[in-house]
Amino acid sequence: MGLTRVPGLLFGGDYNPEQWPEEVWEEDVRLMARAGVNIVTVGVFSWSRLEPAPGVHDFGWLDRILDLLHAHGIAADLATATATPPPWLVRRHPEMLPVDAAGTRLEFGSRQGYCPSSPVFRDATVRLARAMAERYRDHPALVMWHVGNEYADHTAECFCEESARDFRRWLERRYGTLDGLNSAWGTSCWGQHYTDWAQLAPPRKAPGPVNPTQVLDWRRFSSDALLACFEAERRVLKEVTPGIPVTTNFMSILHHLDYWKWAAAEDVVSDDAYPDPADPRAGVKAALSYDLMRSLKRQPWLLLESAPSAVSWREVNVPKEPGTMRLHSLQAVAHGSDGVMFFQWRQARYGPEKFHSAMLPHGGTDTRQWRETLALGADVRRLAEVAGSTTSAEVALVLDWESWWGLEAPESLPSNRLRLHALLLSWYAPLHARGIAVDLTPPDRDLSGYKVVIAPNLYLCTAEQAAALAAFPGRLVVGPFSGVVDAADHVHEGGAPGPLRELLGLRTEEFWPIPDGLTQEVVTADGTRLVARTWSEWLEVDDAQVVARYCGGPLDGRPAITRRGRATYLGCLPEDVAPVLDEVLDAAGVTGVTGPDLPEGVEACRRGDLLFLLNHGAAAATVPLPASGTDLLTGRHLHGSVDIAPRDAVVLKH
Ligand code: GAL
Ligand code: ZN
Repeated sequence: MGLTRVPGLLFGGDYNPEQWPEEVWEEDVRLMARAGVNIVTVGVFSWSRLEPAPGVHDFGWLDRILDLLHAHGIAADLATATATPPPWLVRRHPEMLPVDAAGTRLEFGSRQGYCPSSPVFRDATVRLARAMAERYRDHPALVMWHVGNEYADHTAECFCEESARDFRRWLERRYGTLDGLNSAWGTSCWGQHYTDWAQLAPPRKAPGPVNPTQVLDWRRFSSDALLACFEAERRVLKEVTPGIPVTTNFMSILHHLDYWKWAAAEDVVSDDAYPDPADPRAGVKAALSYDLMRSLKRQPWLLLESAPSAVSWREVNVPKEPGTMRLHSLQAVAHGSDGVMFFQWRQARYGPEKFHSAMLPHGGTDTRQWRETLALGADVRRLAEVAGSTTSAEVALVLDWESWWGLEAPESLPSNRLRLHALLLSWYAPLHARGIAVDLTPPDRDLSGYKVVIAPNLYLCTAEQAAALAAFPGRLVVGPFSGVVDAADHVHEGGAPGPLRELLGLRTEEFWPIPDGLTQEVVTADGTRLVARTWSEWLEVDDAQVVARYCGGPLDGRPAITRRGRATYLGCLPEDVAPVLDEVLDAAGVTGVTGPDLPEGVEACRRGDLLFLLNHGAAAATVPLPASGTDLLTGRHLHGSVDIAPRDAVVLKH
């Protein structure tokens, strides 16, 4: 079963026909059909064209384009068009524009100009979503609903009075009483005791550091406030068109939204991924975010946007070399995407994205970009059988948004250098290099199917989460600064690792961050030397084996890495975690899909009964094959090993 009723993999992109005269549409659909495009996302920013005046709808042009698409066999991921409210609505209700932390109201003239808590905005989106659903419920092109667009991209939070009222209601639901709130927020500190709900406000710009629990609750609230916008539209869509899947496009590993919660409210997880072609680690970072997408609902997801070549929003927008678009696209499919889609179909001639690449560039069809678009369409068709297949992983990385928000709260931690994304990558990269499949998981989902679970950091860890980790029967690895605070961001009694103390058999007596640029040597029991940066801890071991000790520096000779039974703890951040990781993988019996000999730069990834081999490196690589079979991309029969050129790929069926 695919994500939609379109058979095979989806191939297409964002299409903004309203930016072009209708004569161009005919050429568009003809070229789409030639490239094998079977779906386009339409209407994302079309509110001002679809509802030019209050309650007045102009659906004519959208009718025509949907008919035209359908006549050429192209389906629509139809947006509810609510990503940018129209000028008339904003001018009538200027209070619906978002306000920043310093109290400045942001102007119209860009996109996402809305306060997530604005009832005016929410009501208007729901009315438009209903009008869209009623008009297109039976349109044969409609296969998926696209709500909003990249929630939290520009507007992740709003500090206006309306948001303040919404935040207070959210706090009342969470705490019930002011006593409950005062105690959770620790308002005895710095004289913040509240005596009336009306005194509560968002964490606006203040003279000094703002109450960290207030900030944490604000993060929770802001994710929920946007989710409520999504859910309000979704309810209408499900009522009118129950059979059409609903999605909203995620932004890879995004700090502001708790995607575990969001994914549960969606039918299909979709993602926008823009790995930077100038970043040598782009491949591994993309893989990590794709694995998150695959893990969110434990089912295939959809790469809904990616760049054919350069983007237009970095300081320097480097294009993709020939072959890179294909490689990046196949990588998403390898990691569970049931399609390859782009921003956008035709390159714009005006607006902020006129230099953003497109499937069909300014130069038209006599361009290498267009030729690569055609070739990719053909490759995507060759992989049709991949659709619907899944991946099973033996290793999971723990990612919890509330803990992330706590860890990256501004101004009140021993060090601001612990960044969750980097910590996740430090474990993910060596797993990826070994061809080992990785899921992401919240700490309290059922972990019993894994052999290894790694929590690179779990700063905020509740007793329930600790119990779930303790009950996990496989090998557990816990990174530093974990089990520090509870859900209210209060330090656990007795200090870290709080509820993990018994499981790990130790306590952290002092945090000992390492200044920028300095390193700390760590030596394992068998003499392996590791270089640690950024963080160390003064550990007191109650009941655990010392795996490695600090060598030199203020913690000289003290335990740095420990093990108690199946649980390993790191009080430090080795630059290279491989020695620790390999021991754990060995003990758990986890190996990569191609065995130990995966050449550097080559990614190996199993999906269903297919093995994807992707060469991200600059040199040709010879990859040993675990079995003989057929390369779906070329039809070649392969056995023994295969040579893969830089940026080339093999999809082995055996
Ligand atoms: C995304 C957005 C698209 C387009 C694209 C350009 O963030 O959803 O509308 O702006 O970026 O890279
Ligand atoms: Zn607001």
